[in-house]
Amino acid sequence: MNKTENQMLIIFGASGDLTARKLVPGLFNLFLGNYLPKNFVVLGVSRSFMTDEDFRKKVVLESSFIKRADAHIDEKVLKDFASKFYYEDVGSDYDTDYRHLEERITTLNEKLGTDDNYLFYLSTPPLLYEAIAKNLYAQYLNKEREGFKRLIVEKPFGYDLESGKALNKGLQKYFKESQIYRIDHYLGKETVQNLLVTRFANSIFEPLWNRNYIDHVEITNAESDGVGLRGGYYDGSGALRDMFQNHLLQIVSLIVMEPPIDANAEEIRNEKVKALRSLRVMNDYETLHSHTIRAQYVSSQIDGDVIKGYREEEGVHPESTTETYAAIKFFVDNWRWKDVPFYVRTAKRMPTKVTEVVIHFKTPHHQIFQDASMFDKDNKLIIRIQPDEGILVKFGVKVPGQGFKVERANLDFYYSSLTETHVMEAYERLLLDAMQGDATLYARADEVEAAWTFVNPILEYWKKSDEKVYGYSAGVWGPENADDLIEGFGMWRNPGPNLADDQGFCVIC
Ligand code: BG6
Repeated sequence: MNKTENQMLIIFGASGDLTARKLVPGLFNLFLGNYLPKNFVVLGVSRSFMTDEDFRKKVVLESSFIKRADAHIDEKVLKDFASKFYYEDVGSDYDTDYRHLEERITTLNEKLGTDDNYLFYLSTPPLLYEAIAKNLYAQYLNKEREGFKRLIVEKPFGYDLESGKALNKGLQKYFKESQIYRIDHYLGKETVQNLLVTRFANSIFEPLWNRNYIDHVEITNAESDGVGLRGGYYDGSGALRDMFQNHLLQIVSLIVMEPPIDANAEEIRNEKVKALRSLRVMNDYETLHSHTIRAQYVSSQIDGDVIKGYREEEGVHPESTTETYAAIKFFVDNWRWKDVPFYVRTAKRMPTKVTEVVIHFKTPHHQIFQDASMFDKDNKLIIRIQPDEGILVKFGVKVPGQGFKVERANLDFYYSSLTETHVMEAYERLLLDAMQGDATLYARADEVEAAWTFVNPILEYWKKSDEKVYGYSAGVWGPENADDLIEGFGMWRNPGPNLADDQGFCVIC
């Protein structure tokens, strides 16, 4: 286990949803697993007035998120954990003088021995990031003369290329790039990291990982939920900004990248940036029109319940054209991937919640078994990111009996079979990495900008052109023309909740 130094985690936006729902339960698991250092303090910071005791109650002692995570928690353990939490309010505005905050941090640091190591977590609206960084800087809370000072920021990292660059610049005025940790919770998922291991720790896949053997690559990210209570935020964002620009392009970069020299954070991130830069940016009307589909869910009945359409959701403009479904086809301009189409889609209100990568291999160049009906029997490697996490290879086997009839069989591995191993939640893993100064699973400024460079023309095109926004009934696999994107006779693999579900199977109610 790597060493985690004594430190203080200072969470801005501490009274918000993310702190209670993800950060504190993640920390609790680290506490239970003995990953936290001997001296560890969480200082919650926000605009609401609360005492330390109120804060402890809110996010630990009376939190349904912790109780739900583990039904049999010993009260003493919970109290021990809660005793690490403190709270400080900054008044009515985050953009203020942090002198009091600095004094509180220094007092806690001296009293509780956190060795001047501070990790600032900004769980506030992104508009406040630069102001918070500036005010920390004004109190020398960025200086690493004694102890480390790190800054974690949550997505969205900008709204488009220009604002993404401005945000990077704004943060880099006050903190060095090496101190900035941009969190993308998909990188914290075990199965996303396993993409690297599948590729680079096995000699059976990498020789085939190129245009000579791969026909196309498909990535599906589907959620069965709608926008829920986040309509206000989502309506100004849409599926492309909310999921594609960050989580899905991160997955793409891990599939596309060349082998890094070693597993060092900078080497891996250098290759990821190169991969993102090699995505062919779509600039002309024809390509943008034929390679992108956007759509929005409309009301339907599922299981006897009426499901609201997107435009009826709270916080959403009744004539909104924001997409809740985005499907993009693109190419990668390098030797490895020349002419291999990538199809990536993300959507809300799909039949089920699933994220997976499918590598479709080419049909054997010479077919010996003419009767084998090889159509749709090509090899596929399915990497299931969630749920039912695992890997599955589809390959042809002979059907017993006369002749050579070929059927598809599954060779699979499930993470759930590793019963002995505790698979860390994304936030748990990422928090621990930041505490230890490992930035491998955090996005670097140039990575974020490369992703925006690819996404920007699509956003512009959707904004300015009269490209249609299709409707799809809540609970189906997107608009009727969703398959039109796929070359030839192909169609999307519409997976079920289980890894081994075959094409076409899905749970609608
Ligand atoms: C977030 C998006 O980043 O990821 C949400 O803002 C989305 O809209 C969520 O629901 C999905 O995360 P997960 O881990 O549940 O797939």
